[in-house]
Amino acid sequence: RKTVLSGMRPTGRLHLGHYFGALNNWVQMQNEYNCYYMSADWHALTTDYADTSNVAGNILEMVADWLTAGVDPQKAVLFKQSAVSAHSELFLILSMITPLGWLERCPTYKEQKNEIKNKDLNNFGFLGYPVLMASDILIYKADYVPVGEDQLAHLEFSREITRRFNNFYGNVLVEPQAKLTKSARVPGLDGRKMSKSYGNSIFLGEDDDSIKKKVQTMFTDPLKIKKDDPGHPEGCVVFAFHKIFNKDFKVRQEECKAGAVGCVACKKQIMEMLSEFMKPLAQKRKDLISDKSYLQKIIDEGSSKANETAQKTLAQIRKALKF
Ligand code: TYM
Repeated sequence: RKTVLSGMRPTGRLHLGHYFGALNNWVQMQNEYNCYYMSADWHALTTDYADTSNVAGNILEMVADWLTAGVDPQKAVLFKQSAVSAHSELFLILSMITPLGWLERCPTYKEQKNEIKNKDLNNFGFLGYPVLMASDILIYKADYVPVGEDQLAHLEFSREITRRFNNFYGNVLVEPQAKLTKSARVPGLDGRKMSKSYGNSIFLGEDDDSIKKKVQTMFTDPLKIKKDDPGHPEGCVVFAFHKIFNKDFKVRQEECKAGAVGCVACKKQIMEMLSEFMKPLAQKRKDLISDKSYLQKIIDEGSSKANETAQKTLAQIRKALKF
């Protein structure tokens, strides 16, 4: 069996971007592969290092969200990064062979430096983010990494650093491959990538009223056309959601282009589909989140399994380095 590793930062409730961009694949892949799914609590530190009071609670809430989506702790190993210290040892070793230029040129680094103004990103840990992420993946010798499109640059870094490591020390590490879903970039209400920090998200298990209000604010045709005019589904957020929820989205695409359906009707349909989709999830989530000790147990047991696997790779790495 091939191995899968993926992770998410415990920054609060998960949204539809996490769900359709990555979680969907997590759920599919657990039936076929050896899967490790990680709460990246150290990664959460790279941007919010001063206030760590929410991290522990966020981890449990995130595990509840995973289970809500159908991740099964009997099939996949669910663990937290900080409980498996081998990640940090590999991080140290990889940091020695990482050319600074690779990090400075990383597109996510440059983008976030420009876009995120309310956080201090002037630290070594933030620059080294991809090195820690590569360590997460490589310490399990993962073949596949199910993530959204925004993580592709980090995956490319992981592959390059693997080649560099193996070149110096022998063939120990495995080059991982990204695995994308059909909706690898889920837009938020305003058309930018759905992201908690943009305030444009719909959360897993959110209640009906609040979803309806949000869908009302969803951006539609980028050219702001009048009713009955031909529409432009390519740039329309509502259409992006039809692609996700409506199996007849191609019919809708033609109707829209022909001016045969208005934006209001089109939105209304999405409201209904979202509401159908969310209802059972909301109930399941509510039940899960109330049993904190069960969630804690899943993470503790998973972390000890993850630790065993990671220690094996670490022993091989130390041997390769003649340490
Ligand atoms: P994070 O926590 O930002 O996001 C978790 C996963 O959700 C995907 N995602 C999206 N996909 C499509 N559209 C969106 N709007 C959207 N928003 C989020 C992300 O692509 C990601 O797959 N660096 C990672 C965490 C991490 C990791 C790892 C992942 C740490 N170590 C090792 C894989 C392997 C991150 O910050 O994801």
